[in-house]
Amino acid sequence: MPEQDHLPKPTVWPIGFAIGIAVVLVGLIVNPLWIATIGGGIAIVFGVLWARDATADLRGHAVAVEPERREAAAAPATAGAPAAGERFPRSKFLEFSTLGIGGLIGGVVTVPVAGFALLPPFLGQKHHRADLGPVSDFAEGQWYISTFMIDPAEGEVSRRTAFIRNNGTLTVGGKPQPSFTIISNRCAHLGCPVQANGPTGAILGMKTITEKTSAGEIKLEPVVPAGFGCPCHGGQYDTEGNRTAGPPVRGLDRYAFEIKDGRLILLSTFSVAKVDGTGAQAKIHKYKSVGPGEHVDGWEQILYPLNPPHH
Ligand code: FES
Repeated sequence: MPEQDHLPKPTVWPIGFAIGIAVVLVGLIVNPLWIATIGGGIAIVFGVLWARDATADLRGHAVAVEPERREAAAAPATAGAPAAGERFPRSKFLEFSTLGIGGLIGGVVTVPVAGFALLPPFLGQKHHRADLGPVSDFAEGQWYISTFMIDPAEGEVSRRTAFIRNNGTLTVGGKPQPSFTIISNRCAHLGCPVQANGPTGAILGMKTITEKTSAGEIKLEPVVPAGFGCPCHGGQYDTEGNRTAGPPVRGLDRYAFEIKDGRLILLSTFSVAKVDGTGAQAKIHKYKSVGPGEHVDGWEQILYPLNPPHH
């Protein structure tokens, strides 16, 4: 039997399958729901056609070999053809069993690792509330560097820092509402701790306030910031958290808040593209919380389609 008989016939199915996989990958970035699903469909259709084509010989042999058995038993065995009493050629059996076992081992090794690595951020996220003490601790118009724990059960590792200013009262729909600017110190570049650029309590001759609450020991250190700066790569922000220089791709995240029984309660963080205006009049362009370095607006946002929840 000529050697070419061993070679699979050229088909377009692998090309269609590869295009389907490429569409899935692009879809995961651009539009996981529609484009990735369409890509998956293309890959499955071409994959099935490819598999049918690749196993056509086997299936053909399975059917054709029965009437030929008697002749095959009498004829000398040739390479690639089933020997007498065999349903499939041994070379094909070895080829497919090697591929199958290889794929199985690959799946057994890869799937659990990928699951442990990717799933936890999407599961079991708690909604934290941090009690920062009575609103009366926050003098109107004064900034404070505030530290607190978002989950005291986890200890100091859950300690966070926020820059807080009491903007006084804002009237919305005829109703007075408290207004606070509460900025996270997590840099929007790679997450380093941003510092307040300005004199703090001791230099100002003002006392640091400490409170014990359900969010552990709270510290409120007065500060007069000209802005906020990141020590890692020089990212700079103004007092509303807008990026003014350096590599950060957006403004600083903020904390949502509520006032309960006269106390300031910090809720989840949200991300901010930019802030127009200042204080109680600020217009915040807010988005769901995303990781450092991720764009929330502009065309670059399509590069970050999936985000685990942050709280
Ligand atoms: S982490 Fe802040 S500038 Fe790079």
